[in-house]
Parts: sequence; structure tokens; C-alpha cells
Amino acid sequence: MTNPIKKCLFPAAGYGTRFLPATKATPKEMLPVLTKPLIQYGVEEALAAGIENMAIVTGRGKRAIEDHFDISYELEHQIKGTSKEHYLTEIRSVITKCTFSYTRQIEMKGLGHAILCGENLIGDQPFAVLLADDLCDSSSKGVLSQMVDLYKKYHCSIVAIEEIPKEDTNKYGVIAGNEIEPGIFMVKDMVEKPEPEVAPSNLAIIGRYILTPDIFDIIRETKPGKGGEIQITDALLTQARKGMVLAYKFEGQRFDCGSIDGFVKATNYFYDKSIKDDKKQEKKDNGKK
Ligand code: G1P
Repeated sequence: MTNPIKKCLFPAAGYGTRFLPATKATPKEMLPVLTKPLIQYGVEEALAAGIENMAIVTGRGKRAIEDHFDISYELEHQIKGTSKEHYLTEIRSVITKCTFSYTRQIEMKGLGHAILCGENLIGDQPFAVLLADDLCDSSSKGVLSQMVDLYKKYHCSIVAIEEIPKEDTNKYGVIAGNEIEPGIFMVKDMVEKPEPEVAPSNLAIIGRYILTPDIFDIIRETKPGKGGEIQITDALLTQARKGMVLAYKFEGQRFDCGSIDGFVKATNYFYDKSIKDDKKQEKKDNGKK
């Protein structure tokens, strides 16, 4: 079956204030975990899910993202044929396999608004949304791949969720629903950043969505909610009430790289992983000799 999800939208206009001063002149999506910027992890996850068109909603001061997914002739020229050339292998491969399109969110009016800004890049088709500061890793399939599989079965909007400590509900969109298969919930309620006392559950939305294109009209009708911003969570609740929205407890782990704590945890995790991978490679190479 061909992949019904052809495009992935990356809302990337936010200021990244929690990482100031690092994010003063550098987009937060370009902060590296080891040597790779957060947004490249996201693009690679989308690619692994069979999605080749990346639609990026940027803002002022975000040009480095476009430059990252482009050829740097001077750099290529300098290191071609040298021992350093392999450092560019991964990003070259991403650039070759994907197309990138960009639009700007002129005013910061919330995640729902950012997604609506991407409408022209997406068109009338189901699409994925990936928030690059939620960095995910899984020993089997990537989170977006898991969600694409689910979309093929249910053909409706899907949000990824995970269990969080109840006291953290005011940092996330939180859902409530009926579990129709293990780990798959039919959404009945959805609230943006509720206080723990009123949160409908401890199942938090993380930055992976598959959305059907009727969401654009719903967002247009959605009034500003939490923080005076247009929330995708509110639009999705409307969609759930009109039809069906699923919430999916993904397999794998997720790091909140929008926080210093999560960023450091991600760095340690990927560092340990890279050491293990190097050792495995070394063993393989020795075996060949
Ligand atoms: C956004 C969404 C929220 C979701 C979160 C996941 O919030 O509005 O529903 O739980 O992403 O990271 P933000 O973190 O941008 O404030």
C-alpha cells in the first residue's frame, strides 16, 4: 500500500526563550543533540515513515534552518576528498531524499495558528505534524511510522500520547477517552494545559500528530483558548466531537528538548547510544579481518 501521508509540517517559528541566550540568533530547532540539530532528527523520523516532503513554518531569524537543508558549496569544496568528508554524509543523504518548502508565521498566535499557516504548503490531504523539540527514539519503528500504520487502519486524525506525572498536566494538552485497542484511545475530551485538579487524565499529547485536512477549516473557526492562543488541542476536540480522533500511546521514548533538563537527558542518552553503536561497529570490523 502506498503511503497516504506525503507531507510533514514542522511548526518552527517559536522563540525558544528557555534557551536564551543560545537562541538569540540561532533557531531553537538548530540546537544540536551531539552533532545533529533537533530538526534534522525530526526530518529523519519523517523520512523513515516514508514521508519525503517537509513543510516548515518558520519565522523571523530562522534562516539557518533553510541553509542547513541546502548545499554549502564552499564547505563541500573545502572538504571534498579529505578525511573529514564523511561528516557530511548524513545531511547530504537527507537533502537528496527530501524536498523542503517554507512559509512564515508572521505573528505568534499559537500552535493551531502555526499549523493553519502551513495550509498552502500542505493542500487538501492528510499530513503529519512534528514538533522538533519533542525528540523521540524507539528501538523498533519511529513514532511517526507507528502512527502512519495506524492511520492506514483508521483514516482519522491521531495524536501521540504518553503517561506523565499528574502534577505536570499544566505543561501539555491532556486527553480522555475510551481504550478501543491496547494503547489506542477514542478521544472524548481534550484540554490544553489543565491544572492537575481538573485534568481529565494523565495522558499527555506529545509533539506528533497526523491530521486530516478538514482540520484547517476547524482551526479557522477556533477561538483563542489557553494563553489567548489558537490551540490545535481545541480544534482537535471539535474534530473528535464531529467525527473521530484517536490518541496513541507510542512505543519508544521521548525527550522534552524544550527544557534544559530534557535536553541534557537527550544528550546523555544519544551519547551512550553512539558509544554502543561505535563498539558494535568495531566488533563487526574486527570480525571481518
Ligand atoms: C504544544 C501543545 C500541547 C502539547 C505539547 C507537546 O505545547 O500545545 O498540547 O502537549 O506541544 O510538546 P507547547 O509545548 O508548544 O507549549
